[in-house]
Amino acid sequence: MVPYRVGSAWEVNAPAKLNLYLDVLGPRADGFHDLETLMVPVRTCDQLRWSDPGDGSALSLRIRAHRSRDSLPKLNLGPSAENLVSRAAERLAKVAGVEPRGSFDLFKRIPVQSGMGGGSSDAAAALLLANEAWEIGYSRERLAAIAVELGSDVPFFLGQGAAVCRGRGERIAPVSRLPKLHFVVIQPPVGLSTADVFGQWKQQAKAPVGQSIPNRTGVDDLLESLFRGRLAEVGNRLVNRLELAAATLTPWIEKLRLTLGRCGSYGQLMTGSGSACFALMRSASHARSVAGQFSGMGLGRVFVTSSCL
Ligand code: C5P
Repeated sequence: MVPYRVGSAWEVNAPAKLNLYLDVLGPRADGFHDLETLMVPVRTCDQLRWSDPGDGSALSLRIRAHRSRDSLPKLNLGPSAENLVSRAAERLAKVAGVEPRGSFDLFKRIPVQSGMGGGSSDAAAALLLANEAWEIGYSRERLAAIAVELGSDVPFFLGQGAAVCRGRGERIAPVSRLPKLHFVVIQPPVGLSTADVFGQWKQQAKAPVGQSIPNRTGVDDLLESLFRGRLAEVGNRLVNRLELAAATLTPWIEKLRLTLGRCGSYGQLMTGSGSACFALMRSASHARSVAGQFSGMGLGRVFVTSSCL
């Protein structure tokens, strides 16, 4: 994510992510879970703009969505102080000892409660814009320390590409040289709360706190297939250990996995804590043609996307 100047304003495109691999290693004493996950940023993105109306008014946030019936009802349009964009900016201002000022305009395209990291990406975008607009000059490492307080995935979005994330999700090992990947994504009409899905996983796994379950298949096998460009093999190595928990909470996960399993893709998977599911396609045109077939079938929002290189 790289902010750019537009006149006296600042803007940034905040990408979504897909998890091609997500292993839950076990619950931690702090209430979170230790993870090992491969996250790939994709071209679907929100847009965040910061401008200064110059009237000395307090920090404000306005949110719009590209299709209101898809995302706005589920967005937190209550006090803007509760939105992650505002919380990120306020937190940075406090740490840096500056007065927060200006207006944020957030244009949402990433579906909410989809497991595509929209809120986290917006928070990272807010940190980057405020850091520029208020001339704070923090490094990305310094911003990452603030980012992790806002959400486990936020530090990932301060980076510039795919990464294997461990710990809560905040320990990031960048991955380069991935081939271009094309996806069809379906966001069903029902979203899922990350906390609820992890809560369900905990009940099902009954894993003791603080004892990580040893890695079973390993993200390394998947990375090896990706580096070699063996996408059929990649399709067989897609893993999400939260899928069963999510599928207990909504029948949509199984329905989407079955539907996506019939489109001639390399493989399909739920992303993050859901509820969106994706299929890894053979090409951009294959993705477009399958998305066209699935649209209008009452499955929710169907769209194509691809990895950001
Ligand atoms: O960090 P974030 O705010 O995205 O997490 C939302 C919720 O998801 C947490 O409150 C926690 O219940 C769960 N979570 C977890 N382990 C993680 C990440 C999230 O248990 N590594």
